[in-house]
Amino acid sequence: MNPPATLVEYGTTIDPQLMVTPPDAATLELETGHPGENDAEYIRRREDLFALCRKHRLEQLGPPLLDYNAEETRIWREVSPKLDELHLKHACRIYLDAKRDLAITRDEIPQLRHLSERLQRETNLHLVPAEGALPYRTFYEYIAERGFPVTQFIRHGSHPEFTPEPDMIHDCLGHVPPLMNRDYAELLVLIGKAVAATNKGEQVLALKRFSWFSIEFGLLEEVGEVKVFGAGILSSTGEIPFSLFSPDVTRRPFETEVVINTDYDPSRMQDHLFVAPSFSFLRCELEHLLQRFGIQV
Ligand SMILES: [Fe+2]
Repeated sequence: MNPPATLVEYGTTIDPQLMVTPPDAATLELETGHPGENDAEYIRRREDLFALCRKHRLEQLGPPLLDYNAEETRIWREVSPKLDELHLKHACRIYLDAKRDLAITRDEIPQLRHLSERLQRETNLHLVPAEGALPYRTFYEYIAERGFPVTQFIRHGSHPEFTPEPDMIHDCLGHVPPLMNRDYAELLVLIGKAVAATNKGEQVLALKRFSWFSIEFGLLEEVGEVKVFGAGILSSTGEIPFSLFSPDVTRRPFETEVVINTDYDPSRMQDHLFVAPSFSFLRCELEHLLQRFGIQV
C-alpha cells in the first residue's frame, strides 16, 4: 500500500482538534525525516523556490514563470502518467474535462502563471504562489478573495509517489482542474469566506471537516458510479484505488451533520469517505450550515 499523498495538509493540522497550524515561517524548514533532508542540492533548490514564491505572494505578483530543472521534469514524467491512467478511469467528468481544457500533459510541467490566467477567464479565480503550507487562516483568507494558494516545488526524487507536504503535483493535478467549474469554484470561495468570517473554534473545525471530506477527499456520484473529485485522492496513486475499492473504507452519502462531526487523521490513508451527488448540492448544504451558524458572508 502506498503512503498517503500528504501528511500535513494546507489549512489543517497534525491535530485538527487543537487546530495547531504551521507558523508563518520566513525560511524553509523541512520536517525531520523528509526524503530530501540530506540532499544539499534539493535543499538549495527548495530554498530558492521558497524565497521566490514568498516574495511573489507577499508582493502580489502572481505565480513566477519557472525553468524547471531536469530532475523536476523527470519526476513529473514519472508520476503524472501513472496518475493520468487512474484519472481516466476514476476521476469525475468535470475534472477530466478541465484537465484537458487546461492542457495539463504528462510531458511538461505546466506554468502555474498560465493556468492562473486561464482560470481567471473561466471562473474568475486565480492562483496565489505559496512557498509552502500556510497558516490556515491565511490560506482561507486568500480563498475568500478568490485566490487559491499553490506550491511550485516538486517532491524529492527518491520517493516520487510520496510527499510529506503538499507539493506542485498535489496542487496542480489535484486542486487546480476542478477550479475551472463554476459550482466548485463558488463552493470553495464560500468555504473561504465562512472561515474568514468566524473566530469560533467549533465552527472553524466544522468548516475544515466539510472541506476535508469534499475539496480534499470527496467522492461524487456520477451516472450511477462513484467517481473521485477530492484533490488528496486525485494526487495519490495509492489513494485512488484505496478510496474506491478497499473494503477498509466506509463510503457513505454526504450528510452534513455526519460530516462535520467526523474526525480525520491527515497522516493516514483515509478510511471514512462521503459521496456527494453534485457540487451544487454541496454548495446548498454549506449555505444551510452557515445560516445555522449565523455566519454572514
Ligand atoms: Fe490539498
